[in-house]
Amino acid sequence: MTGLPPLPAMEDLRERMLAALAGMPDPPGGKFTTRFEHDLTQVFARRHAVAVSSGTTALHTALSAVGVGPDDEVLMPALAVIMTAQPIVQLGAKPVFVDSDPDTLDLDYADAASKVTARTKAIVPVHLWGRMGDPVRLRAFAAERGLTIVEDAAQAAGTSRAGVPAGAAGAAGCFSTKDGKILWSNEGGFALSDDPAIAAHIRAFRGHWLTPPPGGRPQERLGLPGRMPELIALLAQANLLRFPALLERRRAQTVYLLHALAGARGLTSLQPATDETWNHYSPLLRIGLPHPRAFAEHLAQLGVPSSSGSFRLVPCDTRPMFGDRAPCRGAAQILDRTLAIVLTEHDDEAVLDRYAAVITREAAAWRA
Ligand SMILES: Cc1ncc(COP(=O)(O)O)c(C=O)c1O
Repeated sequence: MTGLPPLPAMEDLRERMLAALAGMPDPPGGKFTTRFEHDLTQVFARRHAVAVSSGTTALHTALSAVGVGPDDEVLMPALAVIMTAQPIVQLGAKPVFVDSDPDTLDLDYADAASKVTARTKAIVPVHLWGRMGDPVRLRAFAAERGLTIVEDAAQAAGTSRAGVPAGAAGAAGCFSTKDGKILWSNEGGFALSDDPAIAAHIRAFRGHWLTPPPGGRPQERLGLPGRMPELIALLAQANLLRFPALLERRRAQTVYLLHALAGARGLTSLQPATDETWNHYSPLLRIGLPHPRAFAEHLAQLGVPSSSGSFRLVPCDTRPMFGDRAPCRGAAQILDRTLAIVLTEHDDEAVLDRYAAVITREAAAWRA
C-alpha cells in the first residue's frame, strides 16, 4: 500500500488572520463571510450559500425557511445525531423517526410510508458517515406525498449519488464545518439552496431578522444569533480552497486503513453503493464479533475513536426526551454493528498503522 498524499498547506493563513484581527472591531462585519459564501456557490455549483454558526443552525434556519413550524411532523432517520432532531423540536414540530435498512444504510421506505400523516411537512435525510441514500427514490417518495426535502449533509460534503451531490436533492442542503468534518473550521456550518426565497429567509433568520428578505422590514420577527463569526469564515474559506486536497487526503486515509484491516478477524469493510461517489468520511467496518458495541467501546479505551465507541451514538428514537415509540431496529442494528472510525486530516500513516495494529490484535483476541 502506498503512502498518503501530503497534508495540503494553509496558504498564508497566519498572515491573513493577523490582518483580519488588525481590522477588528468591525461592527458591520461580514466581509469574510460574504467571500466564503461566494466561494461556496462556486465549489458546490449552487445559486445561494448562507454561512451560519453551526450545522444545527443551518438545519434550524432551513427548516424554518421551508415553513416547518408548530404541530408539523418531520420525518427523519433514527440513524442520526441528536442535532438533527433538535431544530425540529425547537421550531415546535415533531420529529418522527424512520428506520433504516441495515443492508444499504438507506431509509426504510416502507416504514417511512407508514409514518406519513396529514401533518407531515418535510423529510430530512441524514447522510451519516458521508453515505448517501438513493436521491431518485427520495425525491419520488417526497413528491408523491407533497413533502419538502431538507438534507442533513453535515458529514457528506463531497459525496454524490446518481449524479446528485449531497445537499442538492431537495429544497436546501445543510452542512457542518465543525472539526472532524472534511471541510472544517473549528465550528460553523452553511446551507445551500437554489431558491432565492429560501436563501433570503435563512439569511434573515440567522441574524435576528436584521437583514429581511426583499419586501420585509428589519426585525419584524425574531431570529437567531446564528451568524458565522468572521475569523471562522476566514478559516472556512481557506479550507474551502484546500477542499479537493482535503477530500483526496480523507479518501486515501480511509482506503489505507481499510486495506490494512482486510484480514482482521470478524471485520468486513462496508462499500458504497455502485452509483455513489463517497467522500470516504469514515472507514466503515461491519463487526461480526460477539457484543459488537462493547468491542467498539473497548477499542475507544485503547485510543481508536469511533462513532459508537467514543461518542456513544445510539438511534435518536431511543433518547430519553423522545419517550416511548416503536423502536427502529434496523438503525439500532447498524449502530451496534458498525465500527465507524473517526479521522482528522492530521492522521498520518503512523496513526493509521497503530489503529490497524490495535484493531487486528484485539479482534483476534475478542471473546467477550
Ligand atoms: C449528521 C450531523 N448532523 C448535524 C450536525 C450538527 O452540526 P454542528 O455540530 O455543527 O451543529 C452534525 C455535527 O456534528 C452531524 O454530524
